Amino acid sequence: MTTLAFDVYGTLIDTHGVVRLLTTFLGEAHAPIFSQRWRDKQLEYSFRQGLMRDYQGFKFCTTAALAYTAAEFERKYSLGLSNAQQTALIEHYSQLPAFNDVRESLLRLKNSGHRCYAFSNGSHEAVSELLKNAKIFDLFDDIVSCEEVQSYKPNPDVYHHFTKKTSAEGKGTWLISSNSFDIIGAAAVGWNTAWLQRTDDALFDPWDIEPTQIIASLDKLKL
Ligand code: 2OP
Repeated sequence: MTTLAFDVYGTLIDTHGVVRLLTTFLGEAHAPIFSQRWRDKQLEYSFRQGLMRDYQGFKFCTTAALAYTAAEFERKYSLGLSNAQQTALIEHYSQLPAFNDVRESLLRLKNSGHRCYAFSNGSHEAVSELLKNAKIFDLFDDIVSCEEVQSYKPNPDVYHHFTKKTSAEGKGTWLISSNSFDIIGAAAVGWNTAWLQRTDDALFDPWDIEPTQIIASLDKLKL
């Protein structure tokens, strides 16, 4: 039996879906740069909390990263975001769109008998809301959140928690993720991995660990 763990933010859900709203606040030139910086800082905060063993939740990472990025843009470019604009961005974060290839590919995998799970740093509540808003909630057997172990990817405990909770075996488990740190984390505990290269300029970390497959879109996944 094959168990598929789908990373959520950046893999199924387009975190840069905030760019349109950001464009109305900051203009076309700065919005994509802000979005990337916000995302990078959010992940950095999750890694740091993981190392400090001081779990505050992924929502904290997202909100604090937004405040940091807004302060940085104010200082660097004299482009500020009001509190109301920051609140609007956080609200928008639960309404981000799914990538175009998600629904059809997941349906095909599900209909072929594979067990499909959403596996995320996000809380169970946040991920449920996100998947429902993106109209892909029905495609999953369940959600496994790193919140359940009060840590974040790529702590090996979260991958072990996934296999325990889903009664999966490491060898029959696949992580599908666009985040190379997540792929390396799953490979380190013996899972199969498919790195989804969402953009041509995305690079895989040179850590002497290769994904089992590299795919340009979800419909290319071969099991
Ligand atoms: C997720 O866990 C890593 O943000 C990514 O959904």
